[in-house]
Amino acid sequence: MYSLVVRKLKSVIAAGGLGTRLQNFRENDSTKILLDVLGVPMINHQINQLKNWGCEDFVIIINPDFGDLIKKVTIEAFPNLNIQFVIQNKPKGISHALKQAESCIYEDEKILFILGDNFFENNPLEDFDLNSFKKGAYIFTKSVKNPEEFGVAELDKSGNVLSIEEKPQAPKSNQAVVGVYIFDETVFQKINTLTPSKRGEYEITDLCNLYVNQKNCKNFLIDGWWIDAGTPERIIELEEKLS
Ligand code: DAU
Repeated sequence: MYSLVVRKLKSVIAAGGLGTRLQNFRENDSTKILLDVLGVPMINHQINQLKNWGCEDFVIIINPDFGDLIKKVTIEAFPNLNIQFVIQNKPKGISHALKQAESCIYEDEKILFILGDNFFENNPLEDFDLNSFKKGAYIFTKSVKNPEEFGVAELDKSGNVLSIEEKPQAPKSNQAVVGVYIFDETVFQKINTLTPSKRGEYEITDLCNLYVNQKNCKNFLIDGWWIDAGTPERIIELEEKLS
């Protein structure tokens, strides 16, 4: 039953960035998503994670410089998996990355969007009922000591999202928005209305705030560890957790 439902959910993996904070770490001169984590490229850990959550259909957003290599390592490791690849020509932001997947999504499909470098102890979708999900967006948050390093959500007691800010200097809460999102099919129209932020990116937080403005963005609190493996220290932490 569960896997039937999961077929209506396409998993889109953002793997288009360059990972500048990891350049030269372990002689890495390519992209974060190909970095060796316990002998396996990070992208393959990500696919395994999603498979463990019951996901079956994948779209991977790739950077043009490393696209062929990403295709090679994933197809070699998962020859029978349904994976589509789309290129993001320039890393113009996470919402821009998602927009590239538009042609791969069927009309009745919902979207599980995951940032390629985000890893979790537990399946955040475990309590999520796709059958009753019709419209809107879901985000997932975790209480952290350093919210200013992430998107930060302000929530009400019923789990409605009141606002999200990207790496705020004065966070309104300690709830970091983790890199997993569920969107309905209106997401692409919404991305079309976004403008670049001060740092020149189409931000994922701005996209979520369009759902917040429509009072249609809900939150789930996640259990267990969560790692955004974007720095050398966090890669080492991830390896410790996965060992
Ligand atoms: O990890 C959770 C955080 O991820 C959220 O709390 C933030 O709201 C969100 O903006 C994001 O922040 P990061 O600073 O960690 O994002 P980063 O630039 O590292 O990008 C995350 C992933 O998205 C990375 O694996 C590469 C991919 N990406 C990024 C950009 C900017 C793309 O595919 N294309 C892009 O243009």
